Amino acid sequence: MSIEIDQSLKKQVIDDPYLIPKDKLGRVGPFADSKINQFVNSGFQSFNVLVKQTKLKPFSAVMDYGCGVGRIAMIMAKYLKEGHYLGIDVMKDVILDCRNRYSKNKNFEFQFLNMFNDAYNKGGLNASDAMNELRVKRKVDLIYNFSIFSHLLPEEIEPVLNFFKNSLKEDGEVFLTLYLRTENSLKFDGPQRKFHHKHPYKGAFVEEKNNPAYCISYTEDHIESYFDKVGFKIATKRYGLWSGTPNASTYQDFIVLKNK
Ligand SMILES: C[S@@+](CC[C@H](N)C(=O)[O-])C[C@H]1O[C@@H](n2cnc3c(N)ncnc32)[C@H](O)[C@@H]1O
Repeated sequence: MSIEIDQSLKKQVIDDPYLIPKDKLGRVGPFADSKINQFVNSGFQSFNVLVKQTKLKPFSAVMDYGCGVGRIAMIMAKYLKEGHYLGIDVMKDVILDCRNRYSKNKNFEFQFLNMFNDAYNKGGLNASDAMNELRVKRKVDLIYNFSIFSHLLPEEIEPVLNFFKNSLKEDGEVFLTLYLRTENSLKFDGPQRKFHHKHPYKGAFVEEKNNPAYCISYTEDHIESYFDKVGFKIATKRYGLWSGTPNASTYQDFIVLKNK
């Protein structure tokens, strides 16, 4: 994956020491590299995809659902000049840390979501109860999720999508990455194929039988039935490097949704 980075934006991020969670670079995700440069570049990789694939603008109101330690928030802090950012995550300490670090950014907010996750929040509520507890003050133009639907169980998808539906402006977009179980992804066995999702789980397929949320894949029909039910339609769908797609801009597959 080659990336073109806006060097002036990158310099603004690197020069602002509070933006980079130096002691937490390896805390979540496949970005577990202790090198700051690599962490920042991986953030730009994701940010660039959003700029290219959605209507994101410096005046947009965005929701970073599953924001983690702020891998993309740090770039939004310099990009969203007149916009608004809301980060949501199930890890309380990470949310508190982000609130502290971004306290100077008056257009930034971080909310804790008390939803159960075996790896990230063992004491949490079930998805419906947790989503019902969330209160969002404003509707947003863009909801993006990197590496969240790869952890969401079938029973969690609908409550999360309903929350998205209620939080999105009429002409808004939802960007999400996930693993799609397609003919190609089943066939491909190159070095990028780190997951095989061999175990059936409630209509989906998981990597670890005893830890289904670790990594999950969905057939296109299955995941698309949830989008349809909640009132979303697919605007864009692209397959990722994990299933052998040459020159893909993301490792996982990604989908952009619009209201039906
Ligand atoms: C692989 S990390 C990705 C973090 C971030 N999106 C990024 O790209 O750097 C997965 C994140 O999802 C969060 N998470 C897990 N289950 C969640 C859920 N049900 N709702 C929201 N966030 C969740 C985890 O706490 C973790 O921060």
